[in-house]
Amino acid sequence: MFNLNYKQECSKRRTFAIISHPDAGKTTITEKMLLFGKIIRTSGTIKGRGNGKYAKSDWMSIEKQRGISVTTSVMQFKYKNILINLLDTPGHEDFSEDTYRIMTAVDCCVVVIDAAKGIEERTKKLIDVTRIHNTPIITFINKLDRDSREPIELLDEIEKELNLNCIPITWPISCGQNFRGVYHIADKIIYLYKNKDLKKNFFIDFQKYSNLSDVFLNKYIGIDLSQQIYQELELIISIYPKFNNQNFLKGMLTPVFFGSALGNFGIDHLLSSLITWAPPPLYRKSNKRIVKPEEKNFTGFIFKIQANMDLKHRDRIAFMRIVSGQYKKGMKLRHVRTKKDITISNVFSFLAGDRLSIENAYPGDVIGLHNHGTIKIGDTFTEGEEINFVGIPSFSPEIFRCIYLKNPLKQKQLIKGLIQLSEEGAIQVFRPITNNNLILGAIGILQFDVVIERLRIEYNVDAIYKKINIVLARWIRSDKHSSINNFIKHYNSFLAYDSSDSLIYLAPSQANLKIVMNKNSDIFFDNIREQ
Ligand code: G4P
Repeated sequence: MFNLNYKQECSKRRTFAIISHPDAGKTTITEKMLLFGKIIRTSGTIKGRGNGKYAKSDWMSIEKQRGISVTTSVMQFKYKNILINLLDTPGHEDFSEDTYRIMTAVDCCVVVIDAAKGIEERTKKLIDVTRIHNTPIITFINKLDRDSREPIELLDEIEKELNLNCIPITWPISCGQNFRGVYHIADKIIYLYKNKDLKKNFFIDFQKYSNLSDVFLNKYIGIDLSQQIYQELELIISIYPKFNNQNFLKGMLTPVFFGSALGNFGIDHLLSSLITWAPPPLYRKSNKRIVKPEEKNFTGFIFKIQANMDLKHRDRIAFMRIVSGQYKKGMKLRHVRTKKDITISNVFSFLAGDRLSIENAYPGDVIGLHNHGTIKIGDTFTEGEEINFVGIPSFSPEIFRCIYLKNPLKQKQLIKGLIQLSEEGAIQVFRPITNNNLILGAIGILQFDVVIERLRIEYNVDAIYKKINIVLARWIRSDKHSSINNFIKHYNSFLAYDSSDSLIYLAPSQANLKIVMNKNSDIFFDNIREQ
C-alpha cells in the first residue's frame, strides 16, 4: 500500500530544532512560529511566559519550584501546507545531554544569534554537535530593533568561529531606534519594519524601487540611510555568492536572515526558507545499511526518555524519531535490542507538553511510546529487521559530582536508581578503578538536582553530593590491546568505567588532559561515544 499519499506525507514534513545561547530569543521565535502555524493565538503562551494555554507540564516538583521546564516537547504545526515538527531544545538551567541528542533526531537546525552579542559559548558547542551529521543550518540574527553590531562583522564572526560560509538572504536597514526593515536580497524586495513610529507594516518591491533614493522610500527610510544601504548592498551582493541549496544540505553554508523576533519581523522569511530549503525527512545510517524514509517497512530510533510525565502513573515516555514506513495504531514492532515483538497500541504526539493520542505517523515525526523501564536511548524499533541505528551518541559530561548516601544501608536502591536514570540519559555514572566512589557526570547543572529529587521520590533514597576535582572526561580506546593495558597501569587513579563498562579518563584540568594526550599518542581520547 505504498502509494502517492505516503510519498506526499513524507515530502511535506520538515523536522528541525532551534538552537541558541540562552536569551538570544529561541522561545520568542518558537512562539512567533506557533502564531504563524495558528497553534496559538496570542503571544505569551509559551513556557516561562506566564500562565498560558500551552505552558509546559509541571510534573516534577523541581519544575514547580523553579518555574522552568525539564522536559523536551515536540510541536507540530502546518505552514503553507508543510507539516513542521519543531523539537524544543532545553536551554537555560535545564540544558542537558538531551539538548545535544535532540540534534540527532532533526534534519535541520535554526541557529539564533543575538545581534548585539554575536557568537556565544553555547551556540558554538551546539553547532559542533550539528557537525556530527553535517546538519544543514539556517541562521537568524535577532534583536535588530536594539543597537547591534555591524552585520558584516557578525557574518565574519560566524564564518570564523563556526567555520561556516554565510550567504545573507536578507540585509538589515540599520538597527536599534533606526531599524527600518530588511532588503530581501534573493527576492529583491524591501520589507519595512513596523514600529511605534511607523504604523503600517508593508513591503515594497525593490524592482519597482530599485533606486533607493526614490521619494517614496525616502519618506520611510530617509535619504542618508537609503544611500548608505544602497552602497552596503552593492558591496554585499558583490562579496557573497548566491545561495546554493546543495552546499546548504551538506552543511557547508548557512543562509542568514535578520530580524526582530519580538517585533515579529523576519520570522516569515525564516519559515519560508525552512519549507523551501530544509530537507524533507532524511535517511539514517544503521549498523548494516542506510535506511531511507521512502522504504515501506517501519523503522525508528529512541533519542530521549522522559520520566514521570504523569506522576500518578509513574510512567516514562520514550521519544522515537520515525525513519521509514508508516506507524499505524496497533502495529507490531520489534524492539531490536531485547529481540521482543511488541504490539504498539498507544502512542502520543506532543504539543508543548500536552499529549495527543495518534493513529498514524510518518518519517520525520516524533512519537512517544510508553516505557516501563525496558527501552533505552539509542534503541531501534523495526518490523522485524535486525538493524541498529548508529549516531545516537553519549556526550562526555562537563560537570562532575561524587554522590553519597545519607543512609548507607540503601546502597542497593541507589545503584538500581542510578542505573535506570543513566539508561534514560538523565545522568552518566562512573565507577573509578581504584575506589568505590560513584561519580556522576552531566552536561547541565540542573541534572544533579533532578537526580537527587528522583532518587528520593522514586527510589526512596536520600543522597547528597560532594564536589570532586574533575573538569573533563574522555573515553579512551586504542587499536592495540597492550597500549590500553599500559595506559591503565600508569593512569589507573584517573580512570573509571561508565555504565556500559567503557573506560573513561577523568581529568582534573585541561592542562592535565593535554599532557596525557601528548604523552600517549597511541590512545584515542573521544568526547563522544556511540550508545
Ligand atoms: P531564549 O529562549 O533564547 O532564552 O530567549 P527568549 O526568547 O526567552 O528571549 C530572551 C529575552 O530577549 C526576552 O526578554 C525577550 O523578550 C527578549 N527578546 C527576544 N527577541 C527579541 C527581539 O527581537 N528584540 C528585543 N528587543 N528583545 C527580544 P526578557 O525581558 O528576558 O523576557 P520577557 O519579560 O520579555 O518575557
